Amino acid sequence: MKSLLTRRSFMKKTSFGFGAAAIGALGAGRIFAASASTDKLALLGGVPVRTKSFTQPWPIFDDNEEKALLKALRSRNWCCLRGNAVYDFEKTFAEAMGVKKAILTNGGTTALSASLHCLGVGPGDEVITTPHTFVATINVITNLPALPVFVDIDPDTGSINADLIEGAITEHTKAIVPVHLSGFPADIEKILDIGSKHRIPIVEDACQSVFAESNGRKIGTFGVTGCISFQEWKSLVAGEGGAILTDDENMMRKCAAFINNGRDPKGQIKGYPFPGSNHRMTEFQAAVLTEQFRRFIEQDRTRQANGKYLEEELAQIPGLKPRKRYNSTTRITYVAFEMDYDRKHFKGVPAAKFAQALRAEGIPISGKMRSYSGGCHREGMLEAHLSSSAFQASFSKARLQKYRQSLRLPVMDNDPPTEKEMLTADSKIPLLGTRKDMDDILEAFHKVSDNIDKLT
Ligand SMILES: Cc1ncc(COP(=O)(O)O)c(C=O)c1O
Repeated sequence: MKSLLTRRSFMKKTSFGFGAAAIGALGAGRIFAASASTDKLALLGGVPVRTKSFTQPWPIFDDNEEKALLKALRSRNWCCLRGNAVYDFEKTFAEAMGVKKAILTNGGTTALSASLHCLGVGPGDEVITTPHTFVATINVITNLPALPVFVDIDPDTGSINADLIEGAITEHTKAIVPVHLSGFPADIEKILDIGSKHRIPIVEDACQSVFAESNGRKIGTFGVTGCISFQEWKSLVAGEGGAILTDDENMMRKCAAFINNGRDPKGQIKGYPFPGSNHRMTEFQAAVLTEQFRRFIEQDRTRQANGKYLEEELAQIPGLKPRKRYNSTTRITYVAFEMDYDRKHFKGVPAAKFAQALRAEGIPISGKMRSYSGGCHREGMLEAHLSSSAFQASFSKARLQKYRQSLRLPVMDNDPPTEKEMLTADSKIPLLGTRKDMDDILEAFHKVSDNIDKLT
């Protein structure tokens, strides 16, 4: 925060009448923001640091996407079995991710579901996963119907606690599905070691984490498959869409067949020799995705620069700390911006209140414990599955009863309660801003922090 503090103390010694040279050197926006810092909090009726919105329409597109869409439309090859866009992007994406094969699908959910089907997961089996995820991760397991065995989360990251995985393995375990949440890699190296020790395949749910890395390698390329989502609220988008990444020849063939109603992807066997469904992406989706990918590369660079800058500067405020990364994590994506918040340093003010004051200053942020509050083990869909005829036919009553009793996860359930808190924002769009935008964020944080006693 040195640079900002220097400018702020400089401003204290100067006045608005100081002259054009000072205004030019600092920028007019900085002068407003610097003077606002010592002012009354906007939450208490003061002038906000920022009135310009951080949001902009999403997804972002221009003539390039329009032209690509029209080209696909006019080609009359709308299905990938006749067009080139899907297969061309599969090559582009595989190369960018550093993997032999990317198989495009019509969603992240179907990418996950194809992976589990092709691993042979089915009735009576168990899949180890995390309760802290979007419900799609769990639906693909219960639809098989297999049991999602929930392992509690690491309190410092919200990711699956890799140290608890071995204790959850049974003779029924057929796969482990770790989730890389919000651009933060899970403890993937440790999870891989456990998988290979017990000969259990890992399917990575990398739906939220395109371009995150562990040990310099892209997330989604560690497991037997890695699954990506291009759904509209992700960072690389096609409205709907997904990809299965794999280096495994056997899975490549099985998954490519599965998503295409069992056709032989090599075209060597006639008819429909393999199990399958239709999870194909359309040429329209691939046309948009191809253009979006060019845009994403640039956006990703901007987020990296802004995210690192903000994190480094904010970490200088006592009580704010970047979220813990695992030793192997070499790149987070900043699609979410998360800082640990220790209320002891803020006169006991809860993160939610601090965030409320920031929002009043024009900074879109929340204060909470973690991204998903309740956990999938508490969702109604789980009991609906357990009492379905498919589950009754696949699992004994005693096994289901034991399973129900196992659904207690102290960290996820926050039982006993802890005071873990973080400040978190969906930063996919805000971190595409300018350095001046980032400085407004910093200014607002300092203003709230400097005036914390007014929030007690
Ligand atoms: C962690 C996670 N897994 C799976 C999915 C499913 O992806 P899709 O919506 O593309 O089917 C999502 C999407 O929100 C997700 O966030």
